[in-house]
Amino acid sequence: MQNQELAHRIVQDHDKLDRTFTDLERTFTDLKDDNFDRRQDHELLEDARADLNFALEEMLEHFGVEEEAIFQHLRQALPDLSERLDGLEEGHEALCSRVTQLRKMVAAAEAGLKTFDPAAALESLQQMRRILSLHNNAEVQIFLEALERLDGDDQRILRENLEQL
Ligand SMILES: [Fe+2]
Ligand SMILES: [Fe+2]
Repeated sequence: MQNQELAHRIVQDHDKLDRTFTDLERTFTDLKDDNFDRRQDHELLEDARADLNFALEEMLEHFGVEEEAIFQHLRQALPDLSERLDGLEEGHEALCSRVTQLRKMVAAAEAGLKTFDPAAALESLQQMRRILSLHNNAEVQIFLEALERLDGDDQRILRENLEQL
């Protein structure tokens, strides 16, 4: 697989998650605009919960491969990347904690607590998506740079690791 093809594949994997967040954004917007009756609200919250659960699972899997295989190898092969990789790992933590926070908000709403504020949930989601998009761009940039710089076995290992995403 060529470098650009590999990069395209990673972007596609990132896009899969992004589509879930697009659905979720629509759900939160519907809840915020309050065009629905109670029963439909309940269904919207159920959709939101399912999307958040799916997103969190996908994120944990994707970030796990990145941190345990790709980043670890890059830290050894290209030590000067360490600081940027630290930044990406911090990003993973921040993103997961935001999604967990949103999940708590939705769970509270499903439990009938009046503390749920759809506008606040929507804003938090949109902010998270902006962080995710910056994260993904920075990450693909690092992977492409590393592919250019590495050769031999190290390049082969990186390719194999990236193909797991
Ligand atoms: Fe990442
Ligand atoms: Fe990623």
